[in-house]
Amino acid sequence: PKGATFETQIGEGGELHQIASGEGAVLTTQQGIPIADDQNSLKVGDRGPTLLEDFHFREKIFHFDHERIPERVVHARGYGAHGTFTLTESLEEFTSAGILTEVGEQTPMFLRFSTVAGNKGSADLARDVRGFAVKFYTKEGNWDVVGNNIPVFFIQDAIKFPDLIHAAKQEPDRGFPQAQTAHDNFWDFISLTPESMHMVMWIMSDRTIPRGFRFVEGFGVHTFRLVNAEGKGTYVKFHFKPKLGLQSVAWNEAVKINGADPDFHRRDLWDAIDQGNFPEWDMGVQLFDDEFADNFEFDVLDATKVIPEEQIPVRIIGSFKLDRLVDNFFAETEQVAFCTQNIVPGIGFTNDPLLQGRNFSYLDTQLKRLGSTNFTHIPINAPKIPVNNYQQDGHMAMHARKGRANYEPNSWAGTPRESPSKGYKHFPSQETGRKAQVRSATFADHYSQARQFFISQTEIEQKHIGDALTFELSKVERVDIRELMVGHLLNIDEKLAKTVATGLGFKAMPPKAKAAVEPRTDLPA
Ligand code: HEM
Repeated sequence: PKGATFETQIGEGGELHQIASGEGAVLTTQQGIPIADDQNSLKVGDRGPTLLEDFHFREKIFHFDHERIPERVVHARGYGAHGTFTLTESLEEFTSAGILTEVGEQTPMFLRFSTVAGNKGSADLARDVRGFAVKFYTKEGNWDVVGNNIPVFFIQDAIKFPDLIHAAKQEPDRGFPQAQTAHDNFWDFISLTPESMHMVMWIMSDRTIPRGFRFVEGFGVHTFRLVNAEGKGTYVKFHFKPKLGLQSVAWNEAVKINGADPDFHRRDLWDAIDQGNFPEWDMGVQLFDDEFADNFEFDVLDATKVIPEEQIPVRIIGSFKLDRLVDNFFAETEQVAFCTQNIVPGIGFTNDPLLQGRNFSYLDTQLKRLGSTNFTHIPINAPKIPVNNYQQDGHMAMHARKGRANYEPNSWAGTPRESPSKGYKHFPSQETGRKAQVRSATFADHYSQARQFFISQTEIEQKHIGDALTFELSKVERVDIRELMVGHLLNIDEKLAKTVATGLGFKAMPPKAKAAVEPRTDLPA
């Protein structure tokens, strides 16, 4: 850098003056007052005390003292970039959403990758699910697909989420582990949560130690609904496929990389975009109707199940490219607020009980994390179209409506009004039933798809799953937890259960875990 100078001068009274100067804009306080000296606080005499009168010193320290905001309660460690989505195939038959119907339309977007369990300062190569959260700034408002790099989830009902996360993150007494799943609390919870077994197969696979963010898939996980101009609904699952292909590292590589460079994934993404190697993903959809949903082996509202691509192929409808780095990590990557309920006309929800809980959780946590109902005014969160409503005031209000009307209906000229033709309409599904704390019997099978996933893997991939389970469970101190886990594996694949039992040094095979319904063996690999 040119033009920076640093000098120490001795003043008339023998005191020292540090002077850091040079070319460039003049430093100012937050009030815009030019600063003459940023090295020395205002003192009485050369040796102090420091004076309260030094408003610049106090403002500088005050601002520093408040730099931290709460990290995300999950997915705290993340890394984001800007990009553009281009639609290549219109889904007009199924949805009225402009982003999915106007071929050639370029929609700006922001993607944040993350780990789930680790704290903000944890390492990139932890064995963990990767978040894949996309914000599309569409002409009809912001649409967020808040997904992961795995197409299923640990639990079926959002009421279990706080327990899952408590069990996965550091234990409350010891404050560790900060990033790894290998500990008693996590496996204790999992061993008592049979619905997580399908996800367990995926997290023990190499998908949870990706080579970089550029090499992960993304999934919307839940079944959503598309709604066309006539109001007809079609079920949809969202997929993102990296053009560089799905790539992972091996466990021993992950451990070494974590030690040598805990920022390996974020550095890789930064360097690639900085050098013009813009990573790209195809976007695809699985579309199906009520008839398919009614006849499918599992419940399409159950987030622990996939719809095999052999049954409903993924239809590629467009692609996106990440081609712009953030200007400021905090302003953009930290302050971005994704929410499953950010949805545009032509796209809707289903009754998936995990999705229903998420729709409440994100907005609620973001009020705490970002500190004000006006976090939608932060540029990374603001839609790139005009926002018109009569919500007003609150902490940090950045845009205020001009004029007299702050209510509606009103009869003042030129004020915003609702639009029955263009506005968001909820899909009018028929709902009936008694009120009760229950789960549908169609959610009862927890092992069949776990087995289907495991047997669909190649031999080496199966070995990695066995190795990962053995390694993880070997870190669990309580033998009864290890045994119960092997009991679950017996419902998935006997050979896998034996491999893990042998690896853990078991003398006898523990009993099979009780299954609510008999696992199926007739599903193809
Ligand atoms: C954050 C995905 C389930 C609550 C996130 C993020 C992702 C994600 C990707 C990070 C967003 C970012 O980068 O800023 C998922 C997926 C789920 C799931 C794919 C299941 C299919 C849930 C459930 C709840 C929940 C069931 C609660 C009921 C949260 C919260 C945050 C979060 C509170 C922090 C948000 C913030 O502070 O900005 N989730 N999540 N998630 N998730 Fe989930």
